[in-house]
Amino acid sequence: MKKITIAIDGFSSCGKSTMAKDLARAVGYIYIDSGAMYRAVTLYSLRKGYFTPEGIDTEALEKDMPAIDISFRLDPETHLPQTCLNGENVEREIRGMEVSSHVSPIAALGFVRRALVRLQQEMGKAKGIVMDGRDIGTAVFPDAELKIFVTASPEIRAQRRYDELKAKGQPASYEDILKNVQERDYIDQHREVSPLRKADDALLLDNSLLTIEEQKAWLLEQFKRVTKG
Ligand code: DC
Repeated sequence: MKKITIAIDGFSSCGKSTMAKDLARAVGYIYIDSGAMYRAVTLYSLRKGYFTPEGIDTEALEKDMPAIDISFRLDPETHLPQTCLNGENVEREIRGMEVSSHVSPIAALGFVRRALVRLQQEMGKAKGIVMDGRDIGTAVFPDAELKIFVTASPEIRAQRRYDELKAKGQPASYEDILKNVQERDYIDQHREVSPLRKADDALLLDNSLLTIEEQKAWLLEQFKRVTKG
């Protein structure tokens, strides 16, 4: 069967990555979490002290970009993808509140986006890929055969994030998370470079009231429809 490209975009904490991961596994495709790449650059900047009271030291970060290596490898035990920053597994660290609350301004930098989009396009060259993010259907793979735009209410998304962090034993406050979700929505939609928006040819999926199983069935149906045509 001909392999296609699947682009999943939408607001933060919509369960995009769970959905994309499950779909990739079900159809035997590679899964790439593009948000993890922006998070890895954010972690790198935090560690280097590039966040200053005067703003981000963009000059230093831009100079470092060619030396920032981001890759994914499968955890040999869980078989889940781990994000690596210059060879180090940073999967856990990039999901914490420190990175979450600093990632939006990093994702708004044109030179960061250009470098990561190039890398994402390289990863998707052979097709047979599910990538999730904010600009996958609009900027990274505008020709993707299947595009999905996911949304859910901010309160439901904050609750999901809260449950996720709690399950991992990471401390979190629901109020802080909700504020973070709302702030990120605003920045994601209003930034100058590649703002979050639904591609005209993307299917809209509001999963506020859907179970993971219902969502899975719907996605598989869309996949079958597109690959048959
Ligand atoms: O999906 P996430 O929450 O892990 O994404 C982290 C941040 O990166 C979020 O603020 C939006 C940004 N992002 C982006 O601008 N473009 C992408 N393709 C993916 C994520």
